[in-house]
Amino acid sequence: MRSLLPFLCLFLAGTKGVGASDPTVPFMEYLDQDNLVCLKWGFDDLQGSITFMLAVNTTGWVGFGLSPNGGMKGSDIVIGGLGPSGSYFTDRYATGNSMPVVDTQQSYTLLSMNEREGQTIMTFQRSIQTCDDQDFYITAQSIKLIYAYGTTDEITYHGARRGTKEINLLNYKSRTTIPNSDYLSATVDNITVPPIHTYYHCKVMNFPNLSTKHHIYQIQPVIEHHDIVHHMLLYSCPPFVTQPYDKPCFMGDIGDACFGVVAAWGVGGEVFELPENAGIPIGGGDSDMFYRLEIHYNNPNLDAGRTDSSGLRLYYTAQLRQHDVGILTTGVQPFEYMNYVIPPKAPEFQTYGVCNTSLFSQNSVPDLQMFAVLLHTHLAGMKVRVGHYRDGKQIDFLGVDENYNFEIQQIVSLGKIKTIKQNDEIAVECTYNTVSRTGVTKVGKHYLAYNLIFLLPATFHIFLLQMGLGTTDEMCLAFLLYYPAIEITSCVSYPNTMSLSNTSYQMFEETTSDLDEIAEYQSLLNTLPQIQVISSDDSNYTVYEKGIIREMMKTPTVTCQNPNASSRLYTPWILETAGIILSLLWIAIM
Ligand SMILES: *[C@@H]1O[C@H](CO)[C@@H](O)[C@H](O)[C@H]1NC(C)=O
Ligand SMILES: *[C@@H]1O[C@H](CO)[C@@H](O)[C@H](O)[C@H]1NC(C)=O
Ligand SMILES: *[C@@H]1O[C@H](CO)[C@@H](O)[C@H](O)[C@H]1NC(C)=O
Repeated sequence: MRSLLPFLCLFLAGTKGVGASDPTVPFMEYLDQDNLVCLKWGFDDLQGSITFMLAVNTTGWVGFGLSPNGGMKGSDIVIGGLGPSGSYFTDRYATGNSMPVVDTQQSYTLLSMNEREGQTIMTFQRSIQTCDDQDFYITAQSIKLIYAYGTTDEITYHGARRGTKEINLLNYKSRTTIPNSDYLSATVDNITVPPIHTYYHCKVMNFPNLSTKHHIYQIQPVIEHHDIVHHMLLYSCPPFVTQPYDKPCFMGDIGDACFGVVAAWGVGGEVFELPENAGIPIGGGDSDMFYRLEIHYNNPNLDAGRTDSSGLRLYYTAQLRQHDVGILTTGVQPFEYMNYVIPPKAPEFQTYGVCNTSLFSQNSVPDLQMFAVLLHTHLAGMKVRVGHYRDGKQIDFLGVDENYNFEIQQIVSLGKIKTIKQNDEIAVECTYNTVSRTGVTKVGKHYLAYNLIFLLPATFHIFLLQMGLGTTDEMCLAFLLYYPAIEITSCVSYPNTMSLSNTSYQMFEETTSDLDEIAEYQSLLNTLPQIQVISSDDSNYTVYEKGIIREMMKTPTVTCQNPNASSRLYTPWILETAGIILSLLWIAIM
């Protein structure tokens, strides 16, 4: 084991252009497809510092940042370069897609700035935990790194010279590859992307019959055109979907009912690796199952005649792992007739869905070991938080996205495994902004968990499906990935509004509401009993009427030496100390 580290350094010493091998930055990744932007990094567990060496093939300015979701908003950024009057370097943060603002406290230190053979090499350092609320808190989970650069030293809009890549800086590891392992290909085949800004393509397919059970252990994106493929989701279908097709999504086709998330990829995302002891079961009993691949294309230039063959590869193995992975859907799921609405003109409106696991009907539910989460709202969603409660008290968050972006949805691995015990409660909070809307926004208008669809008459299915996806309607869901799989697939709720008079619901349809009315409506909704619907694989479902919304704590922040400082950009639910993480990594390297 000890020989691994020198080997890594020797190997990197051979890398051209980035300069001599530096033992303080043993890790290396290219951040772009064309190998023009190279990042090396390393960290010191005693000093608690992390060092970056960024080499970019330009003589202009270079920018690098840590982003909550791959976008600029909420990112911690450094910009530097070597210009006619010497080197320049600043620590900044971005409040939107605009020039990043210089931080009050400069937490990054420039170690060196060089230009060699048309390449700018910027080496800089910061504390892993800076305790500056304008910096990003680095944890041992994957972080979206962003970069941009210019062709001159005048810092202006970067145009297409930008990108993002997800890397786990503090727990970097190369990917598992099982030799000769097979994969299932969920890809589209040379489809034509229409000349419209946003296009969703759907392919409903089944996979070659696997007569025995296998485990999917890794999901790899296969992206033919990075400039237009924005995000992809793979869903499993209910048994009434029995025919393949390939066409635009949300046109009232039966596959719109395929809603069991299997895999997700968003721009800047990478290979998704399942935990070593668990896999997504496939084949055997359910080998006739159909799947729907949904690809979101972003074609802002309205180019005509673009074709594409992107998708996902699901690597599987016959060597079964210890556990089957399960996906539990939590959040808000009203029935069609419940008329649950978000008023217009609301700057921050919250919906809550609760799940009390004491209601799971299985006799003994094992501890659910949760390792990843996918959060989902539509366009008005600004934040999603998933609270974890035990004995009536919140003990943790199972997922937080304070900068939710509909266009960058993907499965996020937790920095550590979180245990959901029987009797724990889960609450999903979604915060929406409807300031620019004039009418009410319906919540969960048409998507019923497909287990519920079985219970409705067939004609009603068609009715549901014909309504299509309104991305202007809202949803509030968190898909929790865990093992070992249990029978329960969905545990969602909605407020019991039956007792309300029509007027309290319709007031927002007719008149422009003011903030006081919105606040009143919000607190009314929060105190109504929650109807919980718990459904399972075999399409059994149970309804309970006694759920309550418990208080959700403020998103925690880092406690620093300076008691007044806290980290605004901190992606918060990992609370281990850096020391533990670093020791573990140290062991892994040695
Ligand atoms: C980037 O610059 C380095 C140093 O000049 C050079 O060796 C390398 O080939 C360049 N990379 C690309 C992709 O042009
Ligand atoms: C993809 O389709 C386009 C037009 O639809 C065609 O010109 C092209 O040859 C096709 N490419 C492949 C690889 O089949
Ligand atoms: C709401 O209005 C409908 C018709 O508009 C009526 O049938 C129903 O009884 C009303 N419900 C309540 C609770 O007032």
